[in-house]
Amino acid sequence: MDAVRIYGGNCLSGQTKVQGSKNASLPILAATLLIDGTCEIANCPDISDVYHMLRLLQSLGCVVNRKADVLYIDTKGIAECDMPADSVGVMRSSIMLLGALLARMGEVSMEYPGGCVIGKRPIDQHLQALRRMGVEIAEGPEEFCARAVRLHGAVHELPFVSVGVTENLILAAVLSEGETIIHPAAREPEIQALCEFLISAGGKISGVGTDRLVIEGVKKLHPVRFLVPADRIVAGTYLTACMCAGGRVFLEDAPCSQMESVLVCAEKMGTRLTRTTDGLLVEGRACRGLGKALVTEVYPGFPTDLQSLFMATMAFSGQGGQIEETVFENRFRVVPELVKMGADIRVEGNRASIRGDRPLHNTIVEAQELRGGAALVVAALAAEGTGIVTNRHFIDRGYEDITRSLRELGAEIELA
Ligand code: UD1
Repeated sequence: MDAVRIYGGNCLSGQTKVQGSKNASLPILAATLLIDGTCEIANCPDISDVYHMLRLLQSLGCVVNRKADVLYIDTKGIAECDMPADSVGVMRSSIMLLGALLARMGEVSMEYPGGCVIGKRPIDQHLQALRRMGVEIAEGPEEFCARAVRLHGAVHELPFVSVGVTENLILAAVLSEGETIIHPAAREPEIQALCEFLISAGGKISGVGTDRLVIEGVKKLHPVRFLVPADRIVAGTYLTACMCAGGRVFLEDAPCSQMESVLVCAEKMGTRLTRTTDGLLVEGRACRGLGKALVTEVYPGFPTDLQSLFMATMAFSGQGGQIEETVFENRFRVVPELVKMGADIRVEGNRASIRGDRPLHNTIVEAQELRGGAALVVAALAAEGTGIVTNRHFIDRGYEDITRSLRELGAEIELA
């Protein structure tokens, strides 16, 4: 069955290693297309989104090998610029291949990308910005075709901050002619990882970590070995597991410096944290309110990807809380499932109010998307009785094996 079974109500105790970052790996894998030769990508997570990205690279003519956690991507044989619709359809990051393939091949046709159903997720800004760099785009109802005889640098004054648009423009600009300026650029750690990867391959990028990136196009990049940083959202997931169920857990490799907005909320909610050089020690369950609404924002603000996990936590915290979602308009899909478990959550527009004094009980609930699915698993750890979370494939998009990691943390949980 495509599900997870959880025996709830137990405190956690143990240690787990946080996997490599999904959102850093995907654009870096796309970036290998810009490099002629074999790149080695270490600490790449073994998750279904990476699998789909690798399938896309293979369909373009790349040779991909995996030894333990290192991926070897040889791009010498790239010949195709049409991508298989099923992989493009399930994964929004396939849009990342657009900038990279235009730089490498000059032409791409692809279906509109998919991904989690957490909002409209249009690609209008991607296309508009690429047009500024000399790309001609013909948009059909199901697919579009993009062509660039010569990619040139451009000044992009963007209407809002977008992680994906920033990444796509970096990928298109690094081998283009002249200078590209991206402002406001997203500052997420995953963007910094992409820039570090490209700089180590010979790219010229300044302003890394700021909201103004300047990219000076170079003629060629060379193959490199790169270590993918740990996943701050996965670390945040296991943090919320302890906040819900209680106990004492150590999250090895948790990237604390990238998680400050999240850690501050956890501490305000009564969980004790110790930041160390090699991870994060988490002690005790959340037992207080935040004192104000939790508002999702672009980095370094509170990440939208941990919003549903904190919603689950608030439902157990005694005092509940308020959430305002400002990044994606449809990120409350987990609410009816938490309500099935006994939670009292009211949604009005992009705001949710969560009562924290209702006992939650386990039942059969359905994952609707990646992080909402993880939130249901986390909630089930702390709820009474035995629960099932169905549609595990959504969770597998971003977690190597959520049941193994949570068992290492002392949870009673298994694949079902
Ligand atoms: C990335 C992350 C995702 C995270 C999100 C915000 C990856 C693989 N995914 O998604 O986990 O939740 O950043 O931190 O890294 N928008 C438009 N037009 C566009 C592009 C975006 O309107 O052309 C809107 C989106 O609908 C959304 C907002 O901009 O409302 C932000 O989206 P964006 O930052 O682009 O997110 P993603 O790159 O899709």
